[in-house]
Amino acid sequence: MKIRIVVMAALFGAILASTAFAQTDHADFITGTYKTGQEVTAECLTCHDKEFADFMKTPHWKWSEEQTVRGKKMELGKKNVINNF
Ligand code: HEC
Repeated sequence: MKIRIVVMAALFGAILASTAFAQTDHADFITGTYKTGQEVTAECLTCHDKEFADFMKTPHWKWSEEQTVRGKKMELGKKNVINNF
């Protein structure tokens, strides 16, 4: 659970940082007063829910992907491999 929170924070930090380079002016989109970062994220998701759903299917979110090892298909990645650097 703790790892999931850290990953979420990193993900949304990266997304928030990306608005600095955004081509679409979001000044009119983000109008509320927010007490927490999660409230801002919720605002983003009102328009970007598809991007969020797509991201959750990626190895970056799942920390694994299907790989074939010695002819056997398995889910492997950071979440279940000890030396993964
Ligand atoms: C009211 C709708 C709306 C909200 C809320 C919104 N966006 Fe967007 N965003 C758009 C639209 C429309 C585009 C341009 C089309 C596209 O790329 O989907 C866009 C594009 C982007 C892009 C791609 C770069 C660009 O400028 O085209 C990024 C990154 C982005 N938004 C990040 C965010 C983040 C982070 C938040 C929350 C802080 C957010 N957006 C909130 C509607 C919204």
